[in-house]
Amino acid sequence: MGKQKLTGEIFYPSSDIMLRARVNDWDEIRAKAEVNPEEFWAKEAGELHWFEPWTKILDESKKPFYQWFVGGKTNIAYNCLDRHMNTAHRNKLALLWEGEKGEFRSFSYFALRRETCKFANVLRSLGVQKGDRVTLYMGRIPELVIGMLACARIGAVHSVVYGGFTVEALHERLEDSHSKILIVADGSYQRGKIVPLKAIADEALQRAASVESVLVVKRTGEPVNMEPGRDMWFHELMTLPIASTQCTIEKVDAEDPLFLLYTSGTTGKPKAILHTHGGYMVGTYSTFKYVFDIREEDRYWCAADPGWITGHSYIVYGPLLNGATSFMYEGAPTYPFPNRWWQMIERYGLNILYTAPTAIRGLMRFGEAWPNRHDLSSLRLLGSVGEPINPEAWKWYHRVIGKGRCPIMDTWWQTETGMFMITPTPVVPLKPGSGTRPFPGLKMDIVNEEGKPVGINEEGFLVITTPWPAMMRTIYKDPERYVNQYWTKFPGVYLTGDSAKRDEDGYYWVIGRVDDVIKVSGYRLGTAEIESALGSHPAVAEAAAIGLPHEVKGNAIYSYVILKTGIEKSDKLIEELRQHVSHEMGPIAKPEHIEFVDSLPKTRSGKIMRRVLKARALGQEPKDIMTLEE
Ligand code: WT7
Repeated sequence: MGKQKLTGEIFYPSSDIMLRARVNDWDEIRAKAEVNPEEFWAKEAGELHWFEPWTKILDESKKPFYQWFVGGKTNIAYNCLDRHMNTAHRNKLALLWEGEKGEFRSFSYFALRRETCKFANVLRSLGVQKGDRVTLYMGRIPELVIGMLACARIGAVHSVVYGGFTVEALHERLEDSHSKILIVADGSYQRGKIVPLKAIADEALQRAASVESVLVVKRTGEPVNMEPGRDMWFHELMTLPIASTQCTIEKVDAEDPLFLLYTSGTTGKPKAILHTHGGYMVGTYSTFKYVFDIREEDRYWCAADPGWITGHSYIVYGPLLNGATSFMYEGAPTYPFPNRWWQMIERYGLNILYTAPTAIRGLMRFGEAWPNRHDLSSLRLLGSVGEPINPEAWKWYHRVIGKGRCPIMDTWWQTETGMFMITPTPVVPLKPGSGTRPFPGLKMDIVNEEGKPVGINEEGFLVITTPWPAMMRTIYKDPERYVNQYWTKFPGVYLTGDSAKRDEDGYYWVIGRVDDVIKVSGYRLGTAEIESALGSHPAVAEAAAIGLPHEVKGNAIYSYVILKTGIEKSDKLIEELRQHVSHEMGPIAKPEHIEFVDSLPKTRSGKIMRRVLKARALGQEPKDIMTLEE
């Protein structure tokens, strides 16, 4: 690195990091992959197991429905577990887990494979077949990982619903995916309290008809309602003869679906992003390997939730494909005290911490004394994801947690991309707040309204101009929406929904969403969903939601509500509406602030102008109100 002189404030990697890095000349790999991306990906794919080789690396004939490793037969669960059985990884720790109450569990690769095989047999005995959808709704516990891998092993399609969502969010996802099986925990621990997941699921199930069997994982031991003929205990099923450790693997096509993951879009209901076995496997394997520069002896921790793409790709699949040791923690970062994370890093000697800016900002508030009480010298690398990281938080993370030694991998990507897209590696000079440049084999750009590349340091739409292996394949059951949402504004080019700038060194600076998606504490929520949750309350005639800057959360939700005639405005009603959203969607969607209004700014075609609401709330003059109706 370092032929040209970089501009701005730069953090160069230490000689120690440089000397021990897997790849020193990252520019060379990027340059080679730019000439022939397919060759780069094929080489990465070749490091994994294929039952039958692919005949074509990339098939563009049905674009934008791209296909990768066409004709290849593989299975991601085989590559995560079985592939390691005849190597030194067999007895290596695959998963370390700490519960919020302090319990500890661990699984070697051998043990994780055994549990997965047993559970895969249970699923098969319940009639789950290749292609069937299975919904999982749990906290951060090992059974979630086992459940995901068991589905993958038999070619079933998992749909994980974040344990922080509630009744309507779960119902919608069960119904849209038409899941026959729901795997749910009795409850989960969050900040010392129990979240009654099974009770929430029971309410959602009253609204969803497709579910035939509910498998209940005992986590809290609190009494739950067990519906005869429908509900079964996971631990009981796992002792039956049917739960044998012998389980034939489904040799799937590279393009067979692996999972659905619902995420918020610009309009309407959440959409199910579909990922496949082959390309997703290659993308997560390769990005995890290079970006976290993973070593045999590493203990790696991604503090995200498996219910989001970060957890799918970088708690479960990426690490296991690489034979890494992945640590998972169930609870809240500040429970019982704000040193919980630092205590676990010290206790388990964790080497890599990957988390979100909102978590860093939240922990920053408690001051340096908490981390300083702990030995954090095992840390070698840090990571950030979910939203732009403000330089202040970046520097605190770098100085206080990384002691100035640990480079921060600021990774930009999306549920849709499946894998890191803009990211450094440990040898890349860093600028706080920039994810540096695209990963090898990717072509990205920043364009204006006409689709023309913008100049240096000019803001524009962030787009991806060539396909990549871990890209989403479609929106489940809605290919048209896939085309319209991502490939239509600029034909043939993937629209990310973010705005960004590129500086004189080619470094990307992602600014934020340009659509009606709000990032609250790194969680992605659609204004339409929040509005529809508010609208489902009997007192509400109409509602609008916007995101406003918030010191810790990044953005906070503000809502404007028009009440039905005759309904009286009161603080009590505001609280009731906030609780209603929390009950229907989840606590993360609960508006920070609700204001009653008599009208909402709309375009002539009747669309709410959230920009205008936002400008007003920020005390600014709204721009472009030509289309405003009233
Ligand atoms: C959106 C995708 C992909 C993992 C978690 C979020 C924002 C994500 C960064 C980053 C700036 C980021 C973007 C993106 N985002 N990472 N490093 N810097 N912004 O996945 O829920 O699908 O959200 O998160 O706005 O579009 P997601």
